[in-house]
Amino acid sequence: MPRAPKEIKVEEKAEETEEAKETVEDELRKIPGVGEKSLEKLRESGYDNLMAIAAALTADLVAASGLGEETAAKVINAARSKLKMGFEPASEVLKKRERISKITTGSKSLDDLLGGGVETQAILEAYGAFGSGKSQIAHQLSVNVQLPKEKGGMGAKAIFIDTEQTFRPERIVDMAKALEMDVQKALENIFIARAYNSDHQILLAEKAEEILKKENVGLIVVDSLTASFRSDYIGRGTLANRQQKLNRHIHHLQKLADVYNVAVYVTNQVMSNPAIMFGDPTSPIGGHIVGHQATYRVYLRRSKESKRIAKLIDSPWLPEGETVFTVGKDGIRDLED
Ligand SMILES: Nc1ncnc2c1ncn2[C@@H]1O[C@H](COP(=O)(O)OP(=O)(O)OP(=O)(O)O)[C@@H](O)[C@H]1O
Ligand SMILES: [Mg+2]
Repeated sequence: MPRAPKEIKVEEKAEETEEAKETVEDELRKIPGVGEKSLEKLRESGYDNLMAIAAALTADLVAASGLGEETAAKVINAARSKLKMGFEPASEVLKKRERISKITTGSKSLDDLLGGGVETQAILEAYGAFGSGKSQIAHQLSVNVQLPKEKGGMGAKAIFIDTEQTFRPERIVDMAKALEMDVQKALENIFIARAYNSDHQILLAEKAEEILKKENVGLIVVDSLTASFRSDYIGRGTLANRQQKLNRHIHHLQKLADVYNVAVYVTNQVMSNPAIMFGDPTSPIGGHIVGHQATYRVYLRRSKESKRIAKLIDSPWLPEGETVFTVGKDGIRDLED
């Protein structure tokens, strides 16, 4: 029996947040004129993260912290340089884009629909009803990312955040066997963590950064991105709060994708929308927030038996299109295979 993949351990939420605050404050302590008292005042007035400080006006910071104007300006500058905000030459952007890798889905036609595979530095969102193949693709990508470049992989590991307890190591075994990979290695190269609620999910995404720093990772999976958010925020009163948190979570994932040159694959269920009278009466959860932030969106539908239909939804640079692939014991394949 193959060993189960490693679990990512996550400490208490409170500790995590404290830790993040400490690193911000460590940065600020280095600035002459910034003492413990002003740090405390900054914290109390909500200036407890670099972005908030970087975006602040000098006068606001002076009022909030009692710092001198010059010191406050230094604090803002320090936060800004730490965040690497601002413009960069297009040549830098091109250089970064040249590092983009693509991971095969296992189906040539699905890869083609996505412009050649699942890209790093981007988020791919797959949405669809139950059984449409979202999680099967998640498993397949976690295996395929490990393949060498010439076989459509990155020779890299995967991080898998499982929010619905649907990760199955047995599927990894099947898929790795089908590709004649070392099954034990294939399992060991997937760092899996179960998220028990949306807060836990957010923390795991933050914790993932520690692995990204140490290990050669090419893929982050969040399956499902939205399910916990939906169940944790029931009722319209908390909808804005939910969207705000989800928004930040997705932003964070995009940042990880950019900084560590990894592909991010997230899944999303659909909900019935009775307001749509014609066509497909389903729409993805999280609505526009998820839609506008995902670089690629694919809508998956079940067809006969193992057949699945994938449709690319409003991509800014790829043609809209549909394709068919299959989900079988060996994983994701082309129809004719
Ligand atoms: N071992 C297997 N052999 C063949 N087909 C399989 C196997 N395991 C899963 N499948 C196929 O994959 C389907 C499940 O797909 P998947 O788990 O990806 O759905 P999903 O889109 O993630 O759904 P949900 O919204 O419920 O999470 C099954 O219905 C079956 O058709
Ligand atoms: Mg699933």
